[in-house]
Amino acid sequence: MAARLPRTTNALVSKKSPPERTPLFHDAVVQAQPIPQLKSGEILVKIGAAAFNHRDLWIRKGMYPRIAVGSTFGADGAGTVIASADSADPLLKQRVFLTPMRGWENDPNGPESDFGIVGGTSFPPVGTFSQYVVVPRTEVLQTPTHLSDEQIAAWPLAGLTAWRAIALAGISRGDAVLITGIGGGVALLALQICVAMGASVYVTSGSQGKIDKAVKIGAKGGVRYSVDSWPNELGALLKQSSAQLAAIIDSGGDEIMAKTSKYLKSGGKVVCYGMTASPTISMTMREVMRGQQLIGTMMGSRADLVAATAFLTEHKIIPVVAAVLPGLDAAEEGFQMMQNGSQFGKIVVKIGEGEVRLKL
Ligand SMILES: NC(=O)c1ccc[n+]([C@@H]2O[C@H](COP(=O)([O-])OP(=O)(O)OC[C@H]3O[C@@H](n4cnc5c(N)ncnc54)[C@H](OP(=O)(O)O)[C@@H]3O)[C@@H](O)[C@H]2O)c1
Repeated sequence: MAARLPRTTNALVSKKSPPERTPLFHDAVVQAQPIPQLKSGEILVKIGAAAFNHRDLWIRKGMYPRIAVGSTFGADGAGTVIASADSADPLLKQRVFLTPMRGWENDPNGPESDFGIVGGTSFPPVGTFSQYVVVPRTEVLQTPTHLSDEQIAAWPLAGLTAWRAIALAGISRGDAVLITGIGGGVALLALQICVAMGASVYVTSGSQGKIDKAVKIGAKGGVRYSVDSWPNELGALLKQSSAQLAAIIDSGGDEIMAKTSKYLKSGGKVVCYGMTASPTISMTMREVMRGQQLIGTMMGSRADLVAATAFLTEHKIIPVVAAVLPGLDAAEEGFQMMQNGSQFGKIVVKIGEGEVRLKL
């Protein structure tokens, strides 16, 4: 049995940016790497698909903590367990996806121990853009049966982040919610989850086309953040349904609170998970006097991921995939798409046999 297992894996690894290249931009190259021997409690997963997150691009730009040049890219991956240190392991032959982080089990407030995100960094020393990965058997979850590897690969990091942001915002059925930058991977999954919860979702985007697509999957409407008067336009949109926002799920930062305060209920919550517009976020006494809250969030715990995946399964949610690229050699195209920001949904790389290109 062991003799038939692969000894090497092709993986997409980072290579140091040449010194003459400014600004710095690390290369991403496909390299053969040895597969470590399975130790007690470990499994070997044959990856079927992996997905990009914005952090993969930050890593190439050298703008991320703990970057380890030479490590394998990718936090999100899904496939099939093809070997285990325990020959009677019930996970054998099961379809699974990898937990995208380490160090956070179930504390509702934050990681219990050293926190790390999978891919491109020194901890944990594993990435999903690889034909095969060795991980502890406790670091996978079973893939819901309604999803393909390409679809579930689009879920873990972004779905977990969206789920925790929604939980912190306390969103429930009938609430009006604003989700900013709807073309983003996290934002889109937040939309799908909020719609399944029965919330009324409004969105912002740089693109009218993306707003129209968001409406097709359940948003009430949206406004373009690239137009200075967007807060007024949002106000007019909300007025049509006599709605007042209970919460905002934001990835931009900057002046989101000041711009939306008068449309947010007293005690309403702004949960921010990103800094696409600015690395700072302001809060004035106006929001303070209305009891409005600014809450920061960062991914979530394994317990959050289990709960989020149970919801995904119950509601048969299918993560929106913008493109499936045909193998690790095509990954450069995915980085370019992230850089351009033209995609609507997650960018997935199909890994393994039968690689097929799909533009959705
Ligand atoms: N805290 C965490 O745990 C966590 C987890 C995941 C991601 N993040 C961070 O969240 C951000 C988004 O990540 P992602 O992976 O979802 O990225 P992504 O898929 O690349 O999407 C980025 C989105 O940002 C939106 N955007 C750009 N400029 C904006 C602006 N001025 N105002 C509002 N939105 C704007 C765009 O929306 P449109 O296309 O609609 O214009 C774009 O689609 C990144 O900064 C990422 O590092 C944080």
